[in-house]
Amino acid sequence: MNKLLMSLLLTLGVTTAVQAAGDAAAGQNKVAMCGACHGADGNSMMPNFPKLAGQGERYLLKQMLDIKSGARPVVEMTGMLDALNEQDLADIAAYFASQKASVGMADAQHVERGQALYRGGKLEDGMPACTGCHAPDGAGIATAAYPRLSGQHAAYIAKQLTDFREGNRTNDGETMIMRSIAAKLSNKDIEALSSYIQGLH
Ligand code: HEC
Ligand code: HEC
Repeated sequence: MNKLLMSLLLTLGVTTAVQAAGDAAAGQNKVAMCGACHGADGNSMMPNFPKLAGQGERYLLKQMLDIKSGARPVVEMTGMLDALNEQDLADIAAYFASQKASVGMADAQHVERGQALYRGGKLEDGMPACTGCHAPDGAGIATAAYPRLSGQHAAYIAKQLTDFREGNRTNDGETMIMRSIAAKLSNKDIEALSSYIQGLH
């Protein structure tokens, strides 16, 4: 075979492998079971069930793989992802990522403290601001799998921050990014941040 053709085929092969991307239309047919808790379009109505709509595709896929493997235990979802392969999960991630997220409202009494922590961190404790990774409007950084936070239910956010702090959620990698940040947060800080994030957009 001609060398040029060979390298062309190789390049094409590699490109396809890297782009084993999700297909949102195919994903829509695989989420019937999820809607009961997360909402058909990923905008959950229940405060303890996270919204998935508009969430970053890479982050969604990582969480589903972590939930499936048990790296992130979610009792409510026990066994639910077992019959889905990685392509199914990629399709589901693409579907929810393509949906428009709804925004909630912050409690006025928490805005000042929540905003100060979100934008300024806690310099005296060496805690960075949230904006660097989750963006000033809470959109996250999809390509880096830094999750979108804007509009997420306050009760769900509060549970995640508490779980990171208490070591009940440990899937933030070897750098322990979120565990080390949550370690610096008091219950009052978490209450203010969660309320602020619910209204952030
Ligand atoms: C019985 C309710 C229920 C059903 C049905 C359900 N989930 Fe969940 N899911 C949850 C709960 C509760 C959490 C959050 C647990 C926690 O507090 O950490 C969650 C978390 C998630 C997360 C992580 C979100 C984030 O922001 O980190 C993803 C992704 C997810 N579910 C996808 C799915 C998919 C896909 C399906 C359908 C195949 C599904 N879930 C079905 C209850 C459910
Ligand atoms: C250095 C980057 C970085 C900073 C700074 C940071 N985060 Fe995160 N955050 C992450 C990453 C990465 C994840 C996802 C971890 C994983 O893969 O499970 C995450 C996850 C989260 C989650 C879980 C989202 C979900 O849908 O379950 C919450 C809530 C959160 N961060 C809140 C905050 C808050 C509040 C601050 C500021 C006090 C903050 N983060 C600062 C990187 C960061």
